[in-house]
Amino acid sequence: MTTKNKSEKDYSIYFQPPSLSDAKKRGKEDIQVHYDFDIPEEMREIGKDKYYLIQTYGCQMNEHDTETIKGLLEQMGYRSTDDRKQADIILLNTCAVRENAEDKVFGELGHLKHLKIEKPSLILGVCGCMSQEESVVNRILKKHPFVDLIFGTHNIHRLPFLLKEAMFSKEMVIEVWSKEGDIIENLPKKREGIKAWVNIMYGCDKFCTYCIVPYTRGKERSRLPQDVIAEVRDLARQGFKEIMLLGQNVNAYGKDFDDMKYGLGDLMDEVRKIDIPRVRFTTSHPRDFDDHLIEVLAKKGNLMEHIHLPVQSGSNEILKRMSRKYTREHYLELVAKIKKAIPDVVLTTDIIVGFPGETDEQFEETISLVQEVGYDSAFTFIYSPREGTPAAGMEDNVPYEVKRDRLIRLNDVLNVYAKQSNERLKGQTLEVLVEGESKNNAAVLAGRSRTNKLVHFEGPKELVGRFVQVKITETPTFYIKGELVGEAVAQ
Ligand code: 5AD
Ligand code: SF4
Repeated sequence: MTTKNKSEKDYSIYFQPPSLSDAKKRGKEDIQVHYDFDIPEEMREIGKDKYYLIQTYGCQMNEHDTETIKGLLEQMGYRSTDDRKQADIILLNTCAVRENAEDKVFGELGHLKHLKIEKPSLILGVCGCMSQEESVVNRILKKHPFVDLIFGTHNIHRLPFLLKEAMFSKEMVIEVWSKEGDIIENLPKKREGIKAWVNIMYGCDKFCTYCIVPYTRGKERSRLPQDVIAEVRDLARQGFKEIMLLGQNVNAYGKDFDDMKYGLGDLMDEVRKIDIPRVRFTTSHPRDFDDHLIEVLAKKGNLMEHIHLPVQSGSNEILKRMSRKYTREHYLELVAKIKKAIPDVVLTTDIIVGFPGETDEQFEETISLVQEVGYDSAFTFIYSPREGTPAAGMEDNVPYEVKRDRLIRLNDVLNVYAKQSNERLKGQTLEVLVEGESKNNAAVLAGRSRTNKLVHFEGPKELVGRFVQVKITETPTFYIKGELVGEAVAQ
């Protein structure tokens, strides 16, 4: 256990700053699964009549961690609020994947200082991926000393103890474990709505050279299939309509099981038989995407025909320097195999432009790959150097303006394909899971198709949480519009 306060100056032993050589020495041996988590009786009243507010940045993994943190706080008696002034605890669950995500958090800390001055009893905490970085913790210590609590991604289950300590200590409480081998199974989770996230694995061992995740989230460790399946069954019983299986690299699921050969395809084949209407998974890595998984996905049913398959670049040279461990040809072959097995599949992707030293020709190879695959949509990013990762040390002679222009050009090309694929849907009737009212117009409902398209249509609020048939009439780029057809399908 490593809990420290501000007056004890040597923090170095509490952090493992990103180090490729150290991280790659990871052993498999000590993954332990715990089923005995409990909040001690004397801590269950600590939050009585008090409120919490959590701001979450970054990926779905973080969103799901926030659900766990909320679950823990509610078991301690706290209630949720959206009003910062009412909050007794404000936590920032942070993302470290790009610099602008980090800048947002530091900006927010600047604003929160005033609240802390007005209400000194307020507990301000920072958790998530940024807290795993030594440089971030040092910056908070120096520039934002009013922060009360910092805890890491492997320390979420310790929150009740840390919170208690932060309340009674005058010093900043910091606990960031670099230990990463454990899985705590029975943490409470506060889920809302009709869709639920389910972790199937934690961490990442791929070490793409630009990426901070293998350092902030630790080594790959898979939850046991029986634990995942029990959770999905329970969610089905509770009436959830859709689950998203989560991992940084879900195709590596099961690789850490020493005593059995069991992968994502096997898991999906079992989840397929559970009575939950929709199942999705993210994020895939092309290198580990195997034939068995494709075969299982082709059975469809509750497995959706949408695959998010990050490519990052279309240039073999850049892919090599990113250490993605596949070539453009291998990626395109995989896409062809998937399209053959699931002809109506929708593919989406992640792309980084302006990787150190990326030439115009190499960027054009990304454009041609995008044209060849015809993605429905993509998340596109300008490369952002992350301290301690190998790419951050690579020479980069590409000016920022060039990178920005590449991003604009890439997005223009992607939009052409997004529009085309939407236009193909005109006149078709789609099954839509109704998620809520549209943001700008309460008379319009918003839902998702099987392929995760955002669909708007007019209808009564009572349809929220139900499946309906919608005939598509209009197809702007970022969503599609339609008309309700017939009765809602009861599910
Ligand atoms: N710079 C820019 N984009 C990044 N991503 C990960 N690391 C970086 C970085 N250093 C992108 C990748 C990944 C997505 C989640 O974020 O495209 O798939
Ligand atoms: Fe990061 Fe994904 Fe590569 Fe893992 S597979 S290192 S999470 S980009």
